[in-house]
Amino acid sequence: MKTIARFDDHNIHEIESRLDIVEFISETVNLSRKGNNYWGLCPFHQEKTPSFSVNRDKQMYYCFGCHAGGNIFSYLMKKDGLEFKEAVEVLAAKAGIEIIHGEEKKTTDQRRQIIAVNNAATQYYQDMLLGPKGKNARDYLERRGIIPDIISSFKLGYALDEWNGIEEYLLKKGFNAEIVKLSGLIKRSEYQNRYYDLFRNRIIFPIFQYRQDVVGFGGRSLGDSLPKYLNTAETELFSKRKNLYGLYQARESIREANAAYLVEGYMDCMKLQQSGLKNVVASLGTALTEDQARLLRRYTEKAIVLYDGDEAGQRETMRAITILGGAKLKVEAVSLPAGKDPDEYIDIYGKEGFLQYIQNNKFSDIEFKLNRYLTAVPTLDLNAKISIINTLKNDITGLESAIERDFYTKLLAQKLRVEENIVFQELHSRHNNHLVGQKRNNIEILRDNNKYGKYGIQEKILAAMLKDNEVYNTVKKRIGIKFFANPDYQTLVDAFDQLQGDPVKKIYDIRSFAFTEGLDAVYARVAMLIDEVNPNEAREVEEFIRRVELKKEDAQWQKVFTQLDILSDRGDFDSILTFILKLDRLTNATREGGIQ
Ligand code: UTP
Ligand code: MN
Repeated sequence: MKTIARFDDHNIHEIESRLDIVEFISETVNLSRKGNNYWGLCPFHQEKTPSFSVNRDKQMYYCFGCHAGGNIFSYLMKKDGLEFKEAVEVLAAKAGIEIIHGEEKKTTDQRRQIIAVNNAATQYYQDMLLGPKGKNARDYLERRGIIPDIISSFKLGYALDEWNGIEEYLLKKGFNAEIVKLSGLIKRSEYQNRYYDLFRNRIIFPIFQYRQDVVGFGGRSLGDSLPKYLNTAETELFSKRKNLYGLYQARESIREANAAYLVEGYMDCMKLQQSGLKNVVASLGTALTEDQARLLRRYTEKAIVLYDGDEAGQRETMRAITILGGAKLKVEAVSLPAGKDPDEYIDIYGKEGFLQYIQNNKFSDIEFKLNRYLTAVPTLDLNAKISIINTLKNDITGLESAIERDFYTKLLAQKLRVEENIVFQELHSRHNNHLVGQKRNNIEILRDNNKYGKYGIQEKILAAMLKDNEVYNTVKKRIGIKFFANPDYQTLVDAFDQLQGDPVKKIYDIRSFAFTEGLDAVYARVAMLIDEVNPNEAREVEEFIRRVELKKEDAQWQKVFTQLDILSDRGDFDSILTFILKLDRLTNATREGGIQ
């Protein structure tokens, strides 16, 4: 019997490679083969025709009915309600692998040592930022309008443009080489048996846990080079999904205000704190998780979501509202004008302008949802009114305070132009009781268009990109990779972009990445599509690229118009002249057929 000691990626792979998901699922589900996939009745929801599929090559399953999906581990976790570690144990036994226990003490000890390494690294990066080689980085932060106070309270730093700076420093300080590797600050080279620094020529953002421990880092490139941000890889010690950036600095203000603002980016978080809105945290670039919501709940009873006003941002806001509400937080939301994050808004309108905007545009969760439904329905006809009332029914009738219930009943009446007592009757009618407990907006308003077997264009593009390196490179070259409206797809593509190695390895790595990020169902769905993407799709890809390019041109022109507005208000002759010269270059570029 083979023995393994830790739950690391390699061991997980080992277990997986000894088992077969089709065989394993066949033990409980009757599967029959059709094309590349095996099909059966989904064990996770009631159905009469099979929409549950399992793919042997990819070792993934996906249900087109209830959107459950993932690998053999997530299958077992979901089926038997197990924790990841428990599922690993069950499957390891099945695979004939024994897991050694009694490592608990060792891991606590290790955590402590990694934290020590991180703390030392934080000091080193800080010294580099303030030292003679940090001029560029200091200039960058100044250009971004970050003040010295914030640099020191967030312990910002700078990683030099060197391959072994941090490694040499830490080893010289006497840290154990093994621990330095585990910290993730250095990475093993793909080709040679040596390590290099993960962060090079980047601004460093240490990520603190509630005590003052540095558990991980984010690093931003100084210019436009990609990826824009790198983060410490997921380890036992660090998970993006379990931490909130800025919480350590904001915790007292959050407690005092009994409220916390939630933003998306590192920069937004710092910029707001320095502008006097001190009770603010950021979600570290993942879609908000339940862990993060629970963490926040320990400090406050109220969260105010402050995301971008574009479609993706709005959708994320709706998600965040549900997750925060699920953690028993009172929720409000502000949507910023489309395409602006808080940092950019402050740069344009100043901090007074920003605070003013928040005051004027803050909505309760119910009101935010209502507004969104109102803009989402094509016409506010009878059906739409009934759907909206029913969708908000549980939210409103579930409110503890009678005053609040009354307030929203009135609000609905007013916005839907329906008599108040009719709204009241509808809210309290037993008629639609089958909806109770159904959390999703299952009614026609925001329908999930990922119906059975029907894939959207974004999914097709993603599948085509993952499947075919040439498609990937073409798309990347022409329109970049930052165009997915669905944040989960964006996360997958970003990660895929950072991966190295041959296509087979990359596909395996992205798969395990999806798993650790909790995106395995999303990935499974796309993976099922990969087989089906064929040359026909090439045309669709090309059309898609063209559409995005056109949109980009539009956006450029939109910028020009905005600028023109500002200038015509208060521009002096010189800046108008400069503007016209720039405009001239832009029109020339457009004529030649491209803007970038
Ligand atoms: P944004 O792309 O909105 O960046 O990503 P930003 O915070 O506004 O950064 P600036 O203003 O361009 O400097 C939001 C957050 O998503 C994560 C980071 O946490 C970032 O702050 N992110 C973004 C990544 O982890 N990796 C990336 O490549 C991009
Ligand atoms: Mn920004």
